[in-house]
Amino acid sequence: SFVNGNKIFADARKGHYAVGAFNTNNLEWTRAILKGAQEKNVPVLIQSSMGAAKYMGDYQLVRNMVEQVMRSMNITVPVIMHLDHGNYEAAKEAIAAGYTSVMFDGHDLPFEENYAKTKEIVELAHSKNISVEAEVGSIGGEEDGIIGAGELADVEEAKKIADLGVDYLACGIGNIHGQYPANWQGLNFDRLQELADVIKTPLVLHGGSGIPQDQVVKAIKMGVAKLNINTECQLAFAAATRKYIEAGKDQEGKGFDPRKLLAPGTDAITDTVKEIIDWMGTPAIG
Ligand code: G3H
Ligand code: ZN
Repeated sequence: SFVNGNKIFADARKGHYAVGAFNTNNLEWTRAILKGAQEKNVPVLIQSSMGAAKYMGDYQLVRNMVEQVMRSMNITVPVIMHLDHGNYEAAKEAIAAGYTSVMFDGHDLPFEENYAKTKEIVELAHSKNISVEAEVGSIGGEEDGIIGAGELADVEEAKKIADLGVDYLACGIGNIHGQYPANWQGLNFDRLQELADVIKTPLVLHGGSGIPQDQVVKAIKMGVAKLNINTECQLAFAAATRKYIEAGKDQEGKGFDPRKLLAPGTDAITDTVKEIIDWMGTPAIG
């Protein structure tokens, strides 16, 4: 069943490991992510962006789909149902639809407004036992229409937002959504250290795809407890699907049957999820 993220991510920060937050897009993605987490026997966070929820239908559909997939697959690991990069309206809609965790991303608002709206969402969500993620600074690049300049989180501002009682905090530390450019400077560990020194809230690393493993591991040791992965699964799905088609498999037998055509990509997502779980050191349950 669904749980909120409070204890899972607080434990992760204290234990110096991270728990994966994977974006879903459809039924296959959902099954693949849950399969990976179940096989590793670890908690997992499934998130939908506003764009992905719109693509699938609406928040209620996404939430109910994930719940029914869990039931049919006999998923026993704790699953957090989370809204990724929500605006104010989306956060309220996801709360109403029964998500157990929401991100209110007010990074593009003036600080005072980000602060006020985060405060309001925290009060609403906490009254229903739902976790909240906020964002300070910005994640570079673009994800589903969410565009960031990549400015580093200001430590004082981040502390103020954390003190509102948010359950996890996304901070810009040089991380970028999507694929990293060849001239990327790497994560800013000095800023991460400054943030981690004064903020005990579990920190979130967005743009997790494509960061070298040693940097991911170092960031986790320093206080990152939630690692967001989207592009990595998309690349794995696309590559496996391309390979299947280029090998002509879709022409053999009934290889064009969508249940066959989508299978290699779906399996590739599960493999990716399991590999990332190994990187994060998420301990198996029990
Ligand atoms: O919010 C989702 C993540 O930050 C995903 O970023 O696509 O670079 O893995 P990514
Ligand atoms: Zn993100």
